[in-house]
Amino acid sequence: MDQVEAWNTAASEPPPSPIEAPPAARSWLAPAAVAAVVVGAGAAALAARPKASRHAVPSAPARAADNTLAWAAPALLAGHPLRRYYRGRNLERAQTIEDLRAMAHRRLPRFALEYLEGGGEDEASLARNLAVLREWRFQHRSFVDVSRRDLSTVLFERRSTLPFAIAPTGLNGVFWPHADLQLAEAAAEAGIPFAQSTMSNDRMETVARAPGLRYWWQLYVFGPPRVWETLVDRARNAGCEALILTTDAQIFGNREWQKRTQSSPTELSWSARFNVLGHPEWLARGIMTHGMPRFENVVEFVPKDRRSLFESAHWIRSQMDRNLSWDLLKRIRNRWPRRLIVKGVLCLDEIVRCAELGVDAVAISNHGGRQLDWTVAPLDLLPAAREAVGDRIALIADGGMRRGSDILKALMLGADFVFVGRAPLYGVAAAGREGVKRALDILREELDRDLGLLGAASLKDLDRRLLVRTPDRLSA
Ligand code: FNR
Repeated sequence: MDQVEAWNTAASEPPPSPIEAPPAARSWLAPAAVAAVVVGAGAAALAARPKASRHAVPSAPARAADNTLAWAAPALLAGHPLRRYYRGRNLERAQTIEDLRAMAHRRLPRFALEYLEGGGEDEASLARNLAVLREWRFQHRSFVDVSRRDLSTVLFERRSTLPFAIAPTGLNGVFWPHADLQLAEAAAEAGIPFAQSTMSNDRMETVARAPGLRYWWQLYVFGPPRVWETLVDRARNAGCEALILTTDAQIFGNREWQKRTQSSPTELSWSARFNVLGHPEWLARGIMTHGMPRFENVVEFVPKDRRSLFESAHWIRSQMDRNLSWDLLKRIRNRWPRRLIVKGVLCLDEIVRCAELGVDAVAISNHGGRQLDWTVAPLDLLPAAREAVGDRIALIADGGMRRGSDILKALMLGADFVFVGRAPLYGVAAAGREGVKRALDILREELDRDLGLLGAASLKDLDRRLLVRTPDRLSA
């Protein structure tokens, strides 16, 4: 219940933040309009600020927030950061996922960005996901025919054009109106599965109908059994191929940076509100045109007087099942006739037990570093997990995948498939459906090029011996 954790409030606290609930939104938009003048003046002041500051070497925290090694690039002249990510509006000029990320940072207000980017507490889990990828280095082969390359793979006895799926993420509607549908359509076009979150904002039945889509539904267990039973039955009727049971968010992660954009558990801070006004494009295309997103798939279970976005989030959070049991997993297995994925397991015993209980795949995940802090990264566990389950079940890995080479590393370490979370979200936040398409194109192009450079003609040719673990000074 990601979106819920993001505006982390205690179960006994009163509900929603003004920006999330339409009446409350009105209450701050009026005074905020006055403040727009102030923002305008601020913008003028910013435009007039000395240009020299833009060339300052990034500070330590800025470096820490950089997903890449760009700040340490050997080609920089005396650390002078003449290289900058593309932040404009022409998607074709986005070279990497980091460019789309920079575009998303320009477009989104601060509170939405913190929701998208943030991790739990010290963000050590989030950082580990990125760091572990830097510890693995390639040793490519040269005398191999790579003139034709095949990026497809088979999962659940069906061929996927690429070896990854779009991960389930909640509250996508805050990034772009109807973002769930746009992510799904782009996934269908790319020939990969899309997983829709329980806490999504477009109706499951609409999204599942996207032409050519491999549709997966992610389940959070909350409330009485009839809630998950209804959702499972709806997913079956909608033609869903795989059900994903997420297990690592029954208690909400503590996203402190998200909370710093709030003056109380239910209110945005004044500076966050001013910051919203500094993003007129987001405002105009988003809540001013389409209204606030709702949890379209679960709002029916929420008491009628608590159905505004954050009231309902608050209520659902209080109903989360804090006692997930193997017995519940068996009941879900019995009710769901198709492929079942358990997501959020980070412990070998439990992965093996899932395999014994008839689960089809385990998604080894720490929820993108958003839940328990100081976990290992999924890639730390992956080789041992593969050894433990052999080929009895499929293993999916996620966390920190921003490059084709990241995905190749996960496959070489034992994953059958990968989930990408933030990468397509940067795309959708930058430019809606076209932005997701660009994100998926970038990942495909990188996979294709890197596979060839590695000396492999297909994913089947990936060989663990092409990968070596090195202590990496730059990942510290
Ligand atoms: C998530 N994730 C997530 N997982 C899930 O099972 N249900 C959900 O509703 C959400 N919501 C959510 C929101 C946002 C904004 C993010 C970034 C992530 C976790 C997601 O499925 C996946 O595990 C991670 O995103 C993978 O890490 P990367 O690729 O984002 O680094």
